[in-house]
Amino acid sequence: MRFSKSFIYRQQQSQGHPDSRNILIKGDNHAVLTELEPSFSGMIKCIYIDPPYNNGDSYHYYNDRFNQNLWLNNISKTLTILKTFLTEDGSIWISIDDKEMAYLKVEADKIFGRENFVSTIVWQQRKTRENRTIFSRNHEYILVYAKDISAFKKSRNLLPVNDEFINSKYKNPDNDPRGPWQSITASVQAGHGVPSQFYTIVSPSGSKFIPPKGRCWAYNEERMQREIQANNIWFGFNGKNTPRIKKFLSKAKIGLTPETLWSGSQYGTTDSAKKHLLSLFPNKKEVFDTPKPEELIKNILEIASNEGDYILDCYLGSGTTIATAHKLNRHFIGIEIGNQITELVVERIKKVIAGENGGISKTVNWKGGGEFAFYDFDKKKKENKRKEQKEALKFLLFDKPQL
Ligand SMILES: C[S@@+](CC[C@H](N)C(=O)[O-])C[C@H]1O[C@@H](n2cnc3c(N)ncnc32)[C@H](O)[C@@H]1O
Repeated sequence: MRFSKSFIYRQQQSQGHPDSRNILIKGDNHAVLTELEPSFSGMIKCIYIDPPYNNGDSYHYYNDRFNQNLWLNNISKTLTILKTFLTEDGSIWISIDDKEMAYLKVEADKIFGRENFVSTIVWQQRKTRENRTIFSRNHEYILVYAKDISAFKKSRNLLPVNDEFINSKYKNPDNDPRGPWQSITASVQAGHGVPSQFYTIVSPSGSKFIPPKGRCWAYNEERMQREIQANNIWFGFNGKNTPRIKKFLSKAKIGLTPETLWSGSQYGTTDSAKKHLLSLFPNKKEVFDTPKPEELIKNILEIASNEGDYILDCYLGSGTTIATAHKLNRHFIGIEIGNQITELVVERIKKVIAGENGGISKTVNWKGGGEFAFYDFDKKKKENKRKEQKEALKFLLFDKPQL
């Protein structure tokens, strides 16, 4: 990728080559994205953003108190340009809390289309009770939108499961030569059925079964007969139990459908993320007040992307998204306006490259390695270039040489 003159490469802050596919940029996200758009439009598989929530607080590294219209306007402008960066099967995940969630959802619906709204995830961001408030707010939201919901439905990943889980579900009680299987119900809700799905099944042992009340069989009679002949229906060891369908491990798409309730025990909390940061920077008095845990970002990236895909975060904060993306072998673009990008993010990613072992490192067996390039975005350079171009145009139009 060739960067325009507005991007100034900083060798000291970088590690590796200027053309690295892992990019950090210091600057205002909207201005930076506008300049990056021609090169990265349609290329990002997953965008995660965690903007200031407009919760009225002021933190060490950034301010979170804005006029609501201004805040909404700014974030809408950024979301509009971010949409163009997504691949056709890409998705964007937006962290937000109670205060502005409803307002942001309406804006995001307008930008991405209500039909492309995927879900709202509720993440338990704290496990302790805050007794000084009317309610102890223990959760935040993550709004998920697809660029195109049907493409995303096909490409999104299931959650990984371990061998123990598979062995507990798939067994082979009849020594079927096709290998382990699990049985699932052979009936479906009657409301979705057609008349040919209501009939009596006769098992090979002669037992008769009608569908349970309010249900019909999953197949019509002809198909059910074929499945029974093919030994794909299980009537129990004695051949007299309610019929169930055999689903073979060899043909199964193994994995769990993601749920919308994400616990702090499984995906970390703001506190656990802060502890991780403190362990990375033991000598710093102030680290970052509102970091996300790597476990949370890992789950997002594993659902929404694969190794080698591009991930983008343009409200980078302490750099959790890019640290996690790097440990998961994704490429990244990270944009941050504040000095934390050099004070925390650059140092953090250098530690990750050196094999840092906190956060998700142990889970993913992270050993270190990789590179990244750091750029300063210089808006003035861009404006000066525009002025120069304008002057040149004026000269061409008005200062025609006398013949
Ligand atoms: C809530 S924090 C993100 C925390 C991050 N997810 C983490 O894990 O550390 C929001 C960040 O967005 C940055 N930010 C706010 N407005 C920005 C803008 N216009 N361009 C780039 N970054 C911006 C702030 O400086 C702040 O660091």
